[in-house]
Amino acid sequence: MRFHIITIFPEFFTAPLSYGVTGRAIDKGLIKVQAHNLRDYTTDKHRTTDDSPYGGGSGMVMKVEPVARAVSAIKVLDSKDKTGKSRSRVILTTPQGVPFTQALARELSALDEVIIICGRYEGVDERIRDLVDMEVSIGDYILTGGEIPGLVLIDSVSRLIQGVLGSADSKEDDSFSNGLLEYPQYTRPPEFNGSIVPEVLLSGDHAAIKRYRKKESIRRTLQKRPELMEKASITPQDYEIIAELKKEKK
Ligand code: ADE
Repeated sequence: MRFHIITIFPEFFTAPLSYGVTGRAIDKGLIKVQAHNLRDYTTDKHRTTDDSPYGGGSGMVMKVEPVARAVSAIKVLDSKDKTGKSRSRVILTTPQGVPFTQALARELSALDEVIIICGRYEGVDERIRDLVDMEVSIGDYILTGGEIPGLVLIDSVSRLIQGVLGSADSKEDDSFSNGLLEYPQYTRPPEFNGSIVPEVLLSGDHAAIKRYRKKESIRRTLQKRPELMEKASITPQDYEIIAELKKEKK
């Protein structure tokens, strides 16, 4: 998988991606990350990437021409899947975009190429929206630019690519992989300041541990993020667990 980032701060991406899982994925050639300096796609002496807004107002607006030039220069090899659909996506990071979710990360992880245009916080020329396949927001808050959202996308998509994580299990159990929050985890010591590890986890009974974890996962989701239950994949056994939790509450 190849990520292209169009940004005025290409150096921004080097350090954060060079550690841990993403660092190893880059070293192994499982992902490639190329940051392109938007200024390289300008034609004026001052390498201008933004300008004042038509109609007045404060703040600067990201110009359309350098972005258009950058996208067409980068998107030379646009591979297609069997149905003729492009295996590449051009994404603009913006607070106006669709919310970034684990499901979207999974969808993007099946592609060959993701091109991320890091918008600037004050705004982008509306015609930049015509150059992209989708607009993505990482949450309902405003950041100073699209670089951190770009990193968030690359990080979460990369770890879903085959071979990037050590074992296949480590992503199956994640919060959100089945739409539920992750169950509580413990490691040594078995007792800390009077707080003990649930006995079942020390029992070696794998079926009991599996059920305990599912139950706690559902309990957590109901407590902390009840709205996630609507979209979670719930099995008939899960309904039993939900009934059990309801009884316990009474
Ligand atoms: N740019 C500024 N804030 C953002 C956000 N929350 N998501 C995506 N891009 C942004």
